[in-house]
Order: sequence, then structure tokens, then C-alpha cells
Amino acid sequence: MKVFITRVIPSEGLSILQNAGFDVTQWTEKRDLAQRELIAYAKAHDALLSVGKNQLDAFFFKECRHLKAITLLSAGYDHVDIGTANEMGIPVGYTPDVLSNATADTALLLMLAVSRKAFYQHKRIQNGEWQFYDPTAHLGFELTGKTLGIFGLGRIGMALARKCIGAFGMKVIYHNRNRNLQAEKDLNVQFVSFNELVLQSDVLSVHANLSVETREVFNLSVFRKMKPSAIFINTARGGLHNEQELTEALKDGLIWGAGLDVTNPEPMAADNELLNMPNVCILPHIGSATKEARTAMAVMAAQNIIEGAKGLEMPHTINPQVYQR
Ligand code: DGY
Repeated sequence: MKVFITRVIPSEGLSILQNAGFDVTQWTEKRDLAQRELIAYAKAHDALLSVGKNQLDAFFFKECRHLKAITLLSAGYDHVDIGTANEMGIPVGYTPDVLSNATADTALLLMLAVSRKAFYQHKRIQNGEWQFYDPTAHLGFELTGKTLGIFGLGRIGMALARKCIGAFGMKVIYHNRNRNLQAEKDLNVQFVSFNELVLQSDVLSVHANLSVETREVFNLSVFRKMKPSAIFINTARGGLHNEQELTEALKDGLIWGAGLDVTNPEPMAADNELLNMPNVCILPHIGSATKEARTAMAVMAAQNIIEGAKGLEMPHTINPQVYQR
């Protein structure tokens, strides 16, 4: 059985596949594969472990209907046309939950970094601007006792809520399509309407999937309603906010600051003006970039391939309904 992996993955995942007898090819070049290249490789293999944002669209699925198993090395799957995968009867695996802690840490890192202008302060030292102690300059604010609003309270949002309640005694409100009653019971978080979430949050952190309904839901009209002292954090997908309108909102002081681990587009251009704003911290999509999370993701993806290639249900499938057919 031959499996194609679109990037170099942690060796633990690779060993699991090799020990299970798979003939593994890894794409080692540090560039994204063009779709025609991906399809050509996929056609020469039985299974695909897709890393990054290769578009697995209708054309891809129609060309590669022979694949016995596909898995992603991510929790997000906005780049996959699940409708067509279902039509073709192809199960698509993913790697949820094992990155929740790491991603919640990244959101917390950004919350603190923005609230204390950490990246800007670092640049001041590099620019020789750390001259003397001024008790009134470059002040940030404290998270303790503030209200955290979570848009999309799933596993990552719950991990963040736990950390913020434990570390800072924050009040946590959230908005979801469906109420998360378990979180309400376990964490004492409160469901509010989208409008109330936007109005009440001191820090608004986004943890929803990117979909037709959520694309650019954070736009100028929403930033206008937020507190001028509020921080916007996005560690989910850059497509959930309108970046130009976020930039305007920050310039006009409609909100106080922003922390982004995801941008639109990715990679962000090196001359993007957000990178030079004192109250903005940007990271290059490192939410799950810990040894622990990436190893667990590689192991989970390998297990998905092994079961999927045998024609058995993958342990973590986005579209388990294909097994009902
Ligand atoms: C995920 O798992 O979705 C991360 O954002 C990595 O793409």
C-alpha cells in the first residue's frame, strides 16, 4: 500500500506508517504543491496524508476517486469539499483535539502580548528607544477580572476559557450556533447573542470553523460595536475577519488592539501595516506548533491512514456518514 505525504511530518507518524508496511513518499520541497502535481502524486498512491492548505476541491476528488483513505494533519478542514468527498464515498480523516491545548495557549499568549504591547516593546529596545523610565508611557492593561468573549466554544475555546478563568478570574461569555451546555455546567460560562458578545467582550477570541456562514463575520460593522478598549484575537482562520476593515478599525481606534495567529492571505506580506502597529501582535500560524501537539497530530493522522486503507472506519473522520452507505 502506497501513501503520499505532502510535507515532512514528525518522525513518530512516519514510523507508524512504515512499521505498518506502508511504502511512504514524502514531499520534501519547501513549497506548496500545485494542484496538478498533487493529483499526479495522488494518482500514483493508494492513500494521501495532506498537510497544509492544498485545495481538496470537487475537481481533486473527481480525479482521485481511487484513493482508499485521505487524512489531513489539521483540525480545520475549510479547504476540503466535504460534499464531493461524500458523493464519491471517500472518508476524510483529521486530527482534532490533540492541538486544543497548544492553540489555546497561543490565544492566551496573544491576549497577554497585545494587552502589554509586548512585540512593540521588543522593537523599541532593538531601535534604541529604551532610554529612561517613564511611568506614564506605553501602558497596557490587565486581564484580571475582565470579560472574555469566545466566538465558537468548542474544544479549543473551552481550553482557553479554563486557562483564563484559572489564571485571571475572567468572566467568560460565548456565542455558538448551538449552546454548549456541558461547558456552561463545567466552566460556568454564559451563552449570549452574537450582538451581546460583541458589545460586552473586553477580549473577543475567535475559535469557530471557517464556513460560508462565518466568512468575514468580523468586519467593520462589528468592530464599530466593540468596546474601544477591546482586543480582538483570531487563532482560527484568517477568513473569519476582514483584514482591511480590521486595519481601519485599529487605525481609527474603534478597538484597542488585535492579536492574530492567522491572517488573510497567508503568509502575510512582510510590509503589511498591521506589523508596525503598537497594539498588534501577529504570529505565523503557529497555534499547534508544539512538539507535543504536532507529534500527536502525526500519530493520529497515521492511525487514520492505517485504518482507512484497510477499508475500516478511521478513528477521526470528518464525514463518518460515508460509512453508512
Ligand atoms: C489546524 O489544525 O486546523 C491548524 O490551524 C493547522 O492548520
